[in-house]
Formats: sequence, structure tokens, C-alpha cells
Amino acid sequence: MSLEQLLASIPPGSHDETLARQVNFEQLPAHVAIIMDGNGRWAAQRHLPRVEGHRAGIDSVRDVVETSARLGIEVLTLYAFSVENWKRPRAEVNTLMMLLKRYIRLELSTLLKNNIQFRVIGRAEELSPDVQHELELGIRQTATNTGMQFNIALNYGGRAEIVDAARRAIAAGVAADDLDERRFSDFLYTAGQPDPDLLIRTSGEMRVSNFLLWQIAYAEIWVTETLWPDFRRRDLLEAVVAYQKRDRRYGGIKPSPVALGAK
Ligand code: FPP
Repeated sequence: MSLEQLLASIPPGSHDETLARQVNFEQLPAHVAIIMDGNGRWAAQRHLPRVEGHRAGIDSVRDVVETSARLGIEVLTLYAFSVENWKRPRAEVNTLMMLLKRYIRLELSTLLKNNIQFRVIGRAEELSPDVQHELELGIRQTATNTGMQFNIALNYGGRAEIVDAARRAIAAGVAADDLDERRFSDFLYTAGQPDPDLLIRTSGEMRVSNFLLWQIAYAEIWVTETLWPDFRRRDLLEAVVAYQKRDRRYGGIKPSPVALGAK
């Protein structure tokens, strides 16, 4: 994508425009993963039931999906429901599932228009049949899209994913000697996708919460105090600009000018 394409959706003279102009389109994170947190606190601040925070969070999802696609992000992964989230009150779980179904139904045309390929990562087979049906519809109808890959992590757990990958590798008959990190990653839910370069967490908590444990090995982590329902394009642009200022070393050392042959 290009700055012009992004600017087409941004009001001229706005803070968002200033941020957009700071983005280096040659150095975008290929994969952005987001832990959407703070919906409950957002609702509590307004004396509303927790589910109202989730409802409001859908607007943030829309904004972030569209902005990421316009930016030219290759893969966006949103953590919508963890394997641990079943411990929440049944009414809250039901509302989350209802919101998810509604999101897919209402947003499918936008996903198609933006050439976005929708996918689900997690143990989707354990979700209720009506949710699975809606998800499959979204996955099938966007399967041939060639733009951004949009993963929703649902009934997802990082440890569960590693166990599932190990089981699949064994079922595929991979010999122990043939198994290395690259081969193993072919059995993860995210097989074929780049690992996240940037992991964003909202609402200020400093935890990774069992999210993409294998894949975030070298991700840059950016935590914001902003609660998820308040997270918008400007926050995403801020995160990308901050990411681009980081010095990524992947466990090595920064090559010195001398080592590079500079005088
Ligand atoms: C964390 O906030 C958020 C969730 C557990 C769910 C996120 C889901 C949505 C935004 C809606 C559905 C998503 C999609 C992709 C359509 P929390 O409830 O843990 O907040 P708290 O820590 O303030 O209590």
C-alpha cells in the first residue's frame, strides 16, 4: 500500500495525518498481533454492564482491520477469545459469541471489498455449531482474497496450539530427527504466515496471556494504557511508528560501522 491510499481515508490536518506521514512504508511489520484488553474496565468506568465494553470493542475491531489493510499489513491477528475465557459467566460468553457472529455477518462485504482473507486460529471445532457455521461462511467466501490475512484467535491458547502442532506432526509421521523449528512451525495454526513483528496489548497489562507463545519469540511488544474500546487508527499508527524506531537484533548484536567496513 502507499501513503496516498492511507491518507485517502484520513481527515486532512488531523493528528492521524501527522502520524500517517511518519510511517515508513518500506519497513512495515509484516504481522501485527493484538491482545484486545480492557473492555470490562471501559464499561465499568461508564457504570455499564461488562458486555457493553465488548459491544463497543467491535468498533475498534472494524477500525483496526480497515486501517491495517490500508497500511499494507500482511497479517493481522486479533485475540478475541482464549481457552481460559470459558471461565467467564455464561451470559458474557454467549454475548461474545453473538457479537462475533454478528460482526462476521455485517462485515463480510467490507472484508470482500478490501480483499481481506479471513481465518480463525484456535480450537474452532469446540465452538457451538451456529458459531462454526458463521465462521466457515466467512472463511469460505474470503478464501481466494489475496490481500491482508486477518486471523481471529478464538478458543485459542498458545500452549494448546503447541500441543496440537506436536500431535499433528506425530500424526503426519514426522521422524524425530527431521523435526526442527522450521518444520514444526508448519504444524502451527499460523503455518505459512510470518511471525508477528509487533505485538500490541491494550489497557496497560504487562502480560502475554498465552497468546502466540511460539510465534512471538522475537516480536516487539508495545503496550498502551488505552482501553480496547477506545483504540483507533491513531493508536495503531502510533504503535507502528514506535515499532519502526526499535532496534531489532534477534539475539545478535548491532553491526558496528567498523564491522560494516565504514571509514
Ligand atoms: C478483554 O477485555 C476482551 C475480550 C476477552 C474479548 C474481546 C472481544 C471483542 C472486542 C469482541 C469480539 C471480537 C471480534 C474480533 C469480532 P476484558 O473483558 O478482559 O476487560 P477487563 O480486563 O477490563 O475486564
